[in-house]
Amino acid sequence: MVAQGAAWLKQYVPLDGQQALVARCRAIIDGPAGGYVPTVRGGGKMHVRMVCLGRHWNPLTYRYEATRADYDGSPVAPVPEAFAALAARVAQEAGFIFRPDICLINWYGPDGRMGLHQDKDEGSESISAGLPVVSISLGDTARFLFGGVRRRDPVDTLLLESGDAFVFGGPARLRYHGVSRIMPGTAPPALGLEGRFNLTFRQF
Ligand code: SIN
Ligand code: MN
Repeated sequence: MVAQGAAWLKQYVPLDGQQALVARCRAIIDGPAGGYVPTVRGGGKMHVRMVCLGRHWNPLTYRYEATRADYDGSPVAPVPEAFAALAARVAQEAGFIFRPDICLINWYGPDGRMGLHQDKDEGSESISAGLPVVSISLGDTARFLFGGVRRRDPVDTLLLESGDAFVFGGPARLRYHGVSRIMPGTAPPALGLEGRFNLTFRQF
């Protein structure tokens, strides 16, 4: 337990499981309606390639939608059952009963990063119940920032490695978090990956 409601499950996914997830993520992000670099409100570009499953998170409206209205209008593919089952197991390890219906896949290249933010665009019932966000890291190690519920709160740095799961729900659900950088060349060689996939699961 990293904090009330937050758990870091190091090396939760074994290497063969990581390989299977990476193969699936690659096929999705390079496939039709694959990954794109979102432009956020205010016109800035994110520093990741993203694809959403289950529901699309619109970076202009901060709402979840059935199609990619901010980009190409593509309909959203469902969350693969194997992904959802893995996330539910991770959540259960951390004490949460959770049935995810959204998975965001983010790809971080050598310059990938994500500013400090809260995840608060899911349904109000989901957030007020403290249903968690479940994160799975694959590939290069990330410097993950985990703060408090106010932007100015102090921030811890956690090195999330390939296979690590991180869960934040309950009183930690609205804690600020982000990725300051990734560490190129740190992925397990068996993955054949230069960069990092991160999957975040939520229940709308
Ligand atoms: C996110 O906050 O959506 C991504 C976190 C991460 O990449 O570890
Ligand atoms: Mn987030």
